[in-house]
Amino acid sequence: MSVPREELVTVALGDRSYPIHIGPGLLADLGDRLAPFLKRNRVALVTDRNVADLHLAAAEAALRAAGIACVTQILPPGEQTKNFATLERLLDWLLAEKIERGDLILALGGGVIGDLTGFAAAILRRGVDFAQIPTTLLAQVDSSVGGKTAINSPHGKNLIGAFHQPRIVLADIALLDSLPRRELLAGYAEVVKYGLLGDAAFFDWLEQHGAALCAGDLPARVEAVTQSCRAKAQIVAADEREAGQRALLNLGHTFGHALEQATNYDARLLHGEGVAIGMCLAFALSHAMGLATGQEVERVKRHLSGIGLPVRVADIKGADIDVDTLLAGMAQDKKVADGRINFILPRAIGDSFVTDQVDPDLVRQVLAASLAA
Ligand code: GLY
Repeated sequence: MSVPREELVTVALGDRSYPIHIGPGLLADLGDRLAPFLKRNRVALVTDRNVADLHLAAAEAALRAAGIACVTQILPPGEQTKNFATLERLLDWLLAEKIERGDLILALGGGVIGDLTGFAAAILRRGVDFAQIPTTLLAQVDSSVGGKTAINSPHGKNLIGAFHQPRIVLADIALLDSLPRRELLAGYAEVVKYGLLGDAAFFDWLEQHGAALCAGDLPARVEAVTQSCRAKAQIVAADEREAGQRALLNLGHTFGHALEQATNYDARLLHGEGVAIGMCLAFALSHAMGLATGQEVERVKRHLSGIGLPVRVADIKGADIDVDTLLAGMAQDKKVADGRINFILPRAIGDSFVTDQVDPDLVRQVLAASLAA
């Protein structure tokens, strides 16, 4: 297999613009790549136990080789880590380590570590720079890019947070080799999202190369992460704070979050799996409203299920879910405005829009059909 060349995507936000480097083996050059962003040769690195076991030694060695000292905090893995108590401990630790306003904090991990560390960086000393080194496919194509940082509240996911853009994102594609297959597929759902929401040609490409990508094809992985980051960078540059089109990035998420809530955010459903089912529900709803064709609904389902992702509510094992629970979950979504749910709906593959003009009876019918399937 040929080694693909490194790709570069820029998130264009004026003096807060930053590069996303995408390619295999970037971690080995970590120190040299970060050096231009450092005011002194010392960084704080935040990771979790699972990632530390796999990649911390390599990251620390690369920093040492460039003469950069590193203090490290290893947090427990899992969504529960994104809470106030852990944030407080992390901030205390950063202050005890005398991390200064001009220092750089590194987030080495998946979405949980990136979101929590980014939020800590946003509020420590009123804002310290941070770098994202995403280690999951989901983090490489979505959560590490765009500056959304947050922790969870008992009232819901990501409800306490800030927009704080990283200085640099290093997406080392080789790190994906150590991902469990189920997590890789969950991240793949977010890749498919970019095709479905705005790029039909990318969805065509994924239909041809998605299986190889999931099986480990390196050039296909670099291409998919690059296309995804390029799509996200464009949207974020145009609408950093989600006044408009950034909401399109939530295609499948209103349904998906309700499904995650109904399964207690536990191992029965990963976020990306909820998004896969949610995108199928969004297409089914669009079809019921006379927009997407029946063939398109089937095509989306065929691709996702062919890869190994769930596509119906009934595909979630061990879950006892009913339509009313899901509707109640959707009514709590962050995109609810003035009591109305804002839906991200496809008109067709590669063309989506935001609307609050949806007949609740159709939503009920679409959910019931997906539960019964
Ligand atoms: N993950 C959605 C966004 O960054 O806007």
